[in-house]
Amino acid sequence: MTDWPRTLALAGAGKMGGAMLRGWLDGGLKAEGVAVIEPNPSPELVALQAERGFALNPPAPSAPQALVLAVKPQALAAAAPTLQAVAGPDTLVISVVAGKTIAELAARLPARAIARVMPNTPAAVGRGASAGAANSAVSPLQRGWTERLMRAVGMFEWVADETLIDAVTALSGSGPAYVFALVEAMARAGEAVGLSADLAMRLARATVEGAGELMAREPQTPAAVLRQNVTSPGGTTAAALGVLQARDGLDALLARAVVAARDRARELGG
Ligand SMILES: NC(=O)c1ccc[n+]([C@@H]2O[C@H](COP(=O)([O-])OP(=O)(O)OC[C@H]3O[C@@H](n4cnc5c(N)ncnc54)[C@H](OP(=O)(O)O)[C@@H]3O)[C@@H](O)[C@H]2O)c1
Repeated sequence: MTDWPRTLALAGAGKMGGAMLRGWLDGGLKAEGVAVIEPNPSPELVALQAERGFALNPPAPSAPQALVLAVKPQALAAAAPTLQAVAGPDTLVISVVAGKTIAELAARLPARAIARVMPNTPAAVGRGASAGAANSAVSPLQRGWTERLMRAVGMFEWVADETLIDAVTALSGSGPAYVFALVEAMARAGEAVGLSADLAMRLARATVEGAGELMAREPQTPAAVLRQNVTSPGGTTAAALGVLQARDGLDALLARAVVAARDRARELGG
């Protein structure tokens, strides 16, 4: 695997930026080369800085090998003057800012090499799912840095075309909410067949956690096989799947949900 970038600046250490920073430091990125730009550091960030010793709001971290942007989309314009002073022409910019295209970032920053990544919230526990696109100025070494940085907080894959980032947003970016909604729906369904609300919710949560862990431990086993493994012909699970997998069932519903999210991502991205 490619080594870490020697020098890195992180702009925005909120939920996502903070989670990535922790993952990098835990994964072996040397704190000496790290500068964090964060106008309102949280107590957690201040404590992490005291423990690990990266630079927090140094006067001018100039031209690091990598600059990771994790500010809110609406804060990008205000941050641009600072970021212009930080990014050099050879700096790799990695943006996780939702909806901001590589072209928009290139127009705001002097850097040539830009990668745009869509992570998701389980990155906070090192179990993120992310995919990214890079412009043609991103070198193989810089692609390697991006992979190293993103894989410190979960899985990461490249997509060939930036327009697919809207599809990634719709699948994995928004996806954790679909799973939480599934838990809620399972709990309500359990209640409808006689369980108390509390017990139904505890069973639904534990079921999704357990199924997720089983899947995580068998990365090579297709999801369809995991499903078949718990479905005896003519049994109770098969009865339920007959309903879920009917023509207007789960597949059709999720397909509509993901298209709605993809279309909304397109609108928001302008
Ligand atoms: N959280 C997710 O699951 C997720 C998933 C995919 C993509 N993203 C993207 O990640 C980015 C960050 O999201 P988040 O949830 O981590 O938001 P957040 O918790 O609000 O973090 C953003 C941080 O950037 C700081 N900031 C504001 N202006 C700045 C500036 N000029 N220079 C440097 N830092 C500045 C904010 O400080 P203040 O609080 O003082 O404004 C805040 O601490 C967003 O663009 C979002 O689209 C997030």
